Amino acid sequence: MLRTILIPAALAFGLAATPALASGGAPLTKQSWSWDGVFGAYDQAQLKRGFQVFHEVCSNCHGLKLVAYRNLKVIGLSEEEAKAVAGEREVKDGPNDEGEMFNRPGKLSDHYIPPFANDQAARVSNNGALPPDLSLITKARVGGPDYVYSLLMGYADTPEGFTLNDGMNYNKIFAGNQIGMAPPIADDLVTYADGTKASADQIAKDVVSFLNWAAEPEMDARKSMGLKVMLFLLLLTGLFYALKRKIWADVH
Ligand code: HEC
Repeated sequence: MLRTILIPAALAFGLAATPALASGGAPLTKQSWSWDGVFGAYDQAQLKRGFQVFHEVCSNCHGLKLVAYRNLKVIGLSEEEAKAVAGEREVKDGPNDEGEMFNRPGKLSDHYIPPFANDQAARVSNNGALPPDLSLITKARVGGPDYVYSLLMGYADTPEGFTLNDGMNYNKIFAGNQIGMAPPIADDLVTYADGTKASADQIAKDVVSFLNWAAEPEMDARKSMGLKVMLFLLLLTGLFYALKRKIWADVH
């Protein structure tokens, strides 16, 4: 009996563990994120910097289809800035009164317009590799934000004896240790408006923070609601305790 339960359980565990085992092997670098812990929250200035990195660098290859341009106001872009960002790319819309589809510049209600028309076009431009949409990437990988950070910082010289395929780059973290994405980050790749020094490490942390917000924008609200509920329950417990003492006061 025990066996019939244990064997499938072991198999299921084995399957679930496969992605972790299949990873590049190097341990992830654990970062301390501003939103860690019960009281942690997003750092708005960091999210804005991270968006700048995504927009100027990553969005040349990656989409972000779950974020609408108007959502960017939440992380501190003004209405004008968000509109300007939206207007930089065109989308297909229509049909118009003549039944024709037409291109128009993006607007606030559009979702982030992807760099390629379809997956095939994306692969052709990237040596056959498909740059995934990054909207949920911090949720989609074991290790979440620590994985994405470690991946971005995980490029290294190819060790002796390792055969790298054509157009691939050695990465300590990526499954199989070779990735189709060239190192996307370097010192001073962007110039931050708020004067923060743009080291590669800072850029990686900022963009990962932004991607974590993209995947979980409601986190701050969820946490503060959770705290309020706990506080309320605590008060209620006190009240009920006082009530109980009053009601039972005369029973001996
Ligand atoms: C020149 C194009 C290009 C740019 C720019 C680029 N990437 Fe990529 N990225 C790719 C490709 C191609 C892949 C798929 C690699 C593969 O499957 O071998 C990829 C994969 C990824 C992955 C998925 C890794 C996995 O575990 O599957 C992440 C995360 C990622 N990129 C993050 C970023 C971030 C963050 C930036 C900006 C700082 C960025 N990329 C900039 C082309 C690019």
